[in-house]
Amino acid sequence: MLVFTDPPSMQASALSARSHGQTIGLVPTMGALHEGHLMLMREARPHVDILVVSVFVNPTQFGPHEDLDAYPRDYEGDRQLCEGEGVDWMFYPTPATMYPEGHRTVVRVEEWGGVLCGASRPTHFQGVTTVVAKLFQIVQPTAAYFGWKDAQQFLILRRMVADLNMPVQMVGVETVRESDGLAMSSRNAYLSGKERIEAPVLRRALIGARERALMDPTVTASELKRDIVAVIETESSAQVDYVEIVSMETLLPVSRLESGCLIALAAFFGKARLIDNIRIDSTSD
Ligand code: PAJ
Repeated sequence: MLVFTDPPSMQASALSARSHGQTIGLVPTMGALHEGHLMLMREARPHVDILVVSVFVNPTQFGPHEDLDAYPRDYEGDRQLCEGEGVDWMFYPTPATMYPEGHRTVVRVEEWGGVLCGASRPTHFQGVTTVVAKLFQIVQPTAAYFGWKDAQQFLILRRMVADLNMPVQMVGVETVRESDGLAMSSRNAYLSGKERIEAPVLRRALIGARERALMDPTVTASELKRDIVAVIETESSAQVDYVEIVSMETLLPVSRLESGCLIALAAFFGKARLIDNIRIDSTSD
């Protein structure tokens, strides 16, 4: 496996591979790799000639009071995991090379960045779309792989790719979970023993809501949201940030749980802010 740290040399190799007709798959990450990230690599590996994993803790998607400095970093562990998954190239740039002095351009998907997680993290998605647009220019992927765990992120990036006519196939991969249902996340490392025991309530609340809606098609989205909050708040360390039920086409709230919508939520367990979601009509989640 080759490791590139410098955007121009990464881009030169990618352009050369593309000019020889090779396909490139990109898995963008912020490192501290776990089974969720590895699943994206496994999904991509058989479909592309060159598999690239980027590891970059992107400062522009962290708010001023968020966990940028505390965000877990483990270059050596990440390198070994990538090697084990048959990754061809790892891209590991520094903030100074990604955002050199004078960098001024941003990519923003209007409105969609201000709802759901964007309501409490107003500049987050602009940071994500900007860095992913840059990664696409540098790595020249034919396909890029993202987790449905971050459903809003995936929908926003898919919108960006469509709106800017980027020639990248966007692939969504199902959420990988611990055996008790907790979605795998680098931020689970922040949980205390008690919080870790309580956190799977997020998954139970979402499944409960989907079941209730299946049994009673007249139930409203507000009733379901109220149910979900009540279930989550049975756990003493949980504090709900938001629960929303939206259309995946528009990201606007719906009044009933219908096909093509998403229940998305975020909740604090101590200082860890965890997210989860469930798609209606998803076959495998
Ligand atoms: P990060 O949180 O490291 O996640 C990288 C990718 O792994 C994302 O597409 C995310 O949805 C996926 N992922 C994380 N946990 C997962 C799980 N349990 N199951 C399946 N997929 C999972 O998301 C980011 O980094 C950044 O915002 C990034 C897109 C790299 C831009 O900086």
